[in-house]
Amino acid sequence: MKEKLNEIQNQAKDDLVNAGSPEEVERVKTKYIGRKGGVINDIIKAIPSLPPEQRSSTGKSANILKQEIGKWIEEAKEKFADKKQAPGAKEIFDLSLPGENKPYGRKHPLTQTIDEIKGIFKTLCFDIEYGPEVEHEYYNFDALNIPADHPSREDFDTFYLGNKRLLRSQTSTVQIRVMEKKKPPIRMIAPGKVFRPDTVDARHASMFHQIEGLMVDEGVSFSDLKYVLTLFAQSYFGQDIKMRFRPSFFPFTEPSAEIDISCSLCKGKGCSVCSQSGWVEVLGAGMVDPNVFDTVGYDSEKYTGFAFGIGVERLTMLKYGIDNIRLFFENDLRFLSQF
Ligand code: PHE
Repeated sequence: MKEKLNEIQNQAKDDLVNAGSPEEVERVKTKYIGRKGGVINDIIKAIPSLPPEQRSSTGKSANILKQEIGKWIEEAKEKFADKKQAPGAKEIFDLSLPGENKPYGRKHPLTQTIDEIKGIFKTLCFDIEYGPEVEHEYYNFDALNIPADHPSREDFDTFYLGNKRLLRSQTSTVQIRVMEKKKPPIRMIAPGKVFRPDTVDARHASMFHQIEGLMVDEGVSFSDLKYVLTLFAQSYFGQDIKMRFRPSFFPFTEPSAEIDISCSLCKGKGCSVCSQSGWVEVLGAGMVDPNVFDTVGYDSEKYTGFAFGIGVERLTMLKYGIDNIRLFFENDLRFLSQF
């Protein structure tokens, strides 16, 4: 009888290994431990007909085996519930089911522009630097030769936080931070957010992005500035881009220029983005004022340099023909998924 029970035990194990579905596991259960017609129950029922000395041990072994098989069956069921495969089971694919639709994310158009510009300047061996958005007045104004009575220091041009801290209104702050840390030669760009309490319209927002540029060495001239910026504009917009340099003023550069790009939205005819002028200002630039070098402890007799600030939103608008800066910040996927 012992041998018979052993045989049943092995058989039940094999059957469970081969069971490929919960239904098959159920069938194994009925076959071995089912109340009616279950192999083990049949043995228990037959105990009275055994020789008396075998009865009690057979009963005990049969019950132990019954419990054991019961446990294996539960385990096999759990495996299916976990979607794990029972050992040896075959996987079933329903090829007629529709696929899962996973919406893919992508970079914001402004991030794409910043990445592209970083790439262009990397090929010119410019380092990428970053500075804080909450700045000290010193870096935003004083060190940049911006006097106390300059209009950009007014409350309606700058977000003050108190305690001489403010939200930086330009990335030129990073020029100072980098020059304090490093000695020339310097070639760097610094992308980041800037903040101004401007009235929002098609071209203005109270937060926007700039990319600052700075190159300092012996013998750097205005023609180097023109060369680098022309190279940049051609790489970004293409060889036929029209640019114009207008004389301008910034306290931290002398001489200074504003650089316009021909308006690609109206092809120069005049529209709301270019204020009907056919040109859009995208850059401020100039030769670093010697006062700034003196402030950071550079020898202004020995070194010269140029600096520039690129408006990232404006550039992106021109490249893709976007006529409203608000679109960048509304998080409307119908807009964002086009890039
Ligand atoms: N910081 C200036 C602005 O925000 C741009 C600029 C940068 C001009 C560097 C000259 C040199 O308008």
